[in-house]
Amino acid sequence: MDNLKINLNNIYGFVKKDEVYALSKTITNNQSKLETKSGKGNDFLGWLTLPKDITESHLKDIQAVANDLRSKSDIVVVIGIGGSYLGAKAVIEALNNSFSPLLGKKPQIIFAGNSICEDYHSELLELLEGKKYSLVVISKSGTTTEPAVAFRLLKQHLEQSVGKTEAAKRIVAITDESKGALRKLANTEGYKTFIIPDNVGGRYSVLTPVGLLPIAIAGFNIVELVKGAKDSQENSSNQFEQNPACLYAAARNTLYSLGKKVEIMVNFTPKLHFLTEWWKQLYGESEGKENKGIFPAGVDFTTDLHSMGQYIQQGERMIFETIISVENPQHKLSIPTDPENLDQLNFLAGKRMSEVNRMAELGTIAAHTDGGVPCISISIPKITEYWIGYLMYFFERACALSGYTLDVNPFDQPGVEAYKKNMFALLGKPGYEEDGKKLRKRMGI
Ligand code: PA5
Repeated sequence: MDNLKINLNNIYGFVKKDEVYALSKTITNNQSKLETKSGKGNDFLGWLTLPKDITESHLKDIQAVANDLRSKSDIVVVIGIGGSYLGAKAVIEALNNSFSPLLGKKPQIIFAGNSICEDYHSELLELLEGKKYSLVVISKSGTTTEPAVAFRLLKQHLEQSVGKTEAAKRIVAITDESKGALRKLANTEGYKTFIIPDNVGGRYSVLTPVGLLPIAIAGFNIVELVKGAKDSQENSSNQFEQNPACLYAAARNTLYSLGKKVEIMVNFTPKLHFLTEWWKQLYGESEGKENKGIFPAGVDFTTDLHSMGQYIQQGERMIFETIISVENPQHKLSIPTDPENLDQLNFLAGKRMSEVNRMAELGTIAAHTDGGVPCISISIPKITEYWIGYLMYFFERACALSGYTLDVNPFDQPGVEAYKKNMFALLGKPGYEEDGKKLRKRMGI
């Protein structure tokens, strides 16, 4: 079976191979904790076997709803935040044509409710005026403020445009089976719903309807995506040495213990920008607790070599990089020859752009390791549904192993509540009056 490749050669100038492999016992032990459900947060391990657990009929049901919305809509607005948004966004951006919005492809997928930005949502409502559109609203808890506010606005807009009965046929809700305001609303209004399983946390939910429905609506093959994840799941029980997820978890924890506290995810294709955003949430929310955790950051090269490249090369030496390498592009484009050669680039004539990009990648690795930045490389043959599904499960698995190595619960996010409590207090939510008074005084308002 195919596997992604991990190359740790460019960290071995900083750590010894033996030091990385010294973690094999701990990581293997963590594998058993996952499989026997005996580690921290073990009631949130639904994602672990999700690829193999997904049934054909579940995928067909999702596809049927996707087809229905596709036939009814020029635009589908997907409302959600955090784990209820980033997985779908990452997959769709990776697979879409770079200029999809300008190519007239229908339906276009637009995301909303991932901020509380008045301008964004006003402009969205203006855009939707007179358009044929549908809504997919996603919230596991069913109580998150950002998507709830956006849904309130969009639901009202849709009902005013097509009437309440027709609007209800164009709204799909993805939420908890029984709890939360969204479930209540969906039941009352008679929306089609999908369930987010209790034992799958938001950031691990891309292979539930949370990710699969928007991806199918965008016209991508969810069967292939799940197949990739399934093969990844299959390979994730391999022995330590043949197991990229184990090696990745061991390598990053070894680097962390030596003071490399920031991991920068690097891509050389802008289509992977949101895969990095998804990865940042997965690792940041899973590991950043109890005053521990590698800080996950991201760059898009080569563009960011002309901005962040300076810091990475010569700034504080607390960084390591993880490079996602894509071996083959979808297209072929060679650099033309120019008889004038005024730009003196004829030495590149006839070469594929991907070859130039590859040399930029290797040149960057050499420069950064020379500058004190260890580089882990992870490569996939190409960007397809299969390989994105494969990669996402790989990162989920490695994240859980890594979190256990740090001795934290990789499946909770207690810190996310702090800002919400203050925001509610400042906005005068009933029950928060006293906190509100204190906070307003403290913030000088
Ligand atoms: O990973 C997580 O659990 C979070 O990022 C949530 O997905 C995010 O806060 C949105 O929550 P909900 O789906 O309950 O609206």
